[in-house]
Amino acid sequence: MRREACRLGIDFRIPVVLKGTGMYVPEKVLTNDDLEKMVETSDEWITSRTGIHERHISDGELTSELAAKAGRAALESAGLQAQDVDMIIVGTNTPDTIFPGVGPKVQYLIGAGNAGAFDVQAGCTGCIYALTTAAAGIGSGLWKNVLVIGAEVLSRFLDWSDRNTCVLFGDGAGAAVLGAGEAENSVLAAELHAEGEKSDFIIFPGGAVEKPATHETVDAGEHSIKMKGNDVFKYVNTVLPPFLKRLCSDAGLEPGDVDWWIFHQANVRIIDGVLKRMKLDPDRSIVNLDRYGNTSAASVFLALHEGIDKGLVKKGDNVVLTSFGSGMTYGAIVLRI
Ligand code: ACO
Repeated sequence: MRREACRLGIDFRIPVVLKGTGMYVPEKVLTNDDLEKMVETSDEWITSRTGIHERHISDGELTSELAAKAGRAALESAGLQAQDVDMIIVGTNTPDTIFPGVGPKVQYLIGAGNAGAFDVQAGCTGCIYALTTAAAGIGSGLWKNVLVIGAEVLSRFLDWSDRNTCVLFGDGAGAAVLGAGEAENSVLAAELHAEGEKSDFIIFPGGAVEKPATHETVDAGEHSIKMKGNDVFKYVNTVLPPFLKRLCSDAGLEPGDVDWWIFHQANVRIIDGVLKRMKLDPDRSIVNLDRYGNTSAASVFLALHEGIDKGLVKKGDNVVLTSFGSGMTYGAIVLRI
């Protein structure tokens, strides 16, 4: 029952198409060698356990600034002006402030005077939640052009003395423009899930209603990301393969018909493990986490943009975008590009 309630069918009143993509990462690069000087870790450990070599770190740029740069790039690639946008949806877990959200700030920064704007906070799956919301709004005729952005400055949310987490994440923003199409619908299927009982797997405990910032919360180190990495790893490897197989079938595809798998860029072992369980070739996935680390709600957008930009993902390709994250949320969207 619950699955039916959050499943998007293939039958939109108005076809939804991907019109453009963009991305932006801050200039500063932090390599595994740099991290070796900061915590007890090694390039060998990080590379073999995650596939990450380096990540970009914001030197004071805010999430909204990264998001606006990626958003402008996506609009340019779509051939649209900021005034053409009806809605801006930003997936983020690291907003500039608890409120207002990043969306309204992007609306101002890019001059999208006709657009509404809001944030989606769904862990790293925020990208898929945001894209699905955009598709539903366009497909029903509510909006014509939606700028969907994933943006994070996770470096500000990390405990840089905790080697379990600080080596994993990076900052960045990616964006996609979804819009009303003329003929064929690109969104073949989408489905979103959450298992709230697993909320302790990935959590940022301090600084909000449950634990407002106090000297005690600071002393207890509660203003940084805590993660049960092993539990996340096992959970994702268990739930994603059957879920993705079923969603492909809802889209009228066999998993083997998918040209490109674009996973949340958390760990190459997870990506390869899920594809192996589905008896698929790891070469069918776009991986760029080696250069950006885990950029949470931005990561799928970064991989989609680079896949298209490098000419790997081409018109007519069947693509699955999928993510998992704090909540535990997970979801996927099947697109024909
Ligand atoms: N350098 C060196 N050693 C380390 C480091 C490090 N950076 N981090 C942990 N270790 C040590 C641990 O202390 C532990 O040592 P011990 O055996 O002496 O206790 C040992 O390495 C093994 O630790 P594990 O946590 O068991 O290592 P594992 O192989 O599970 O890899 C990892 C950890 C990479 C986090 C993995 O579990 C993983 O990728 N999990 C999924 C996490 C994920 O995807 N998170 C993102 C999703 S949600 C989101 O994006 C916000």
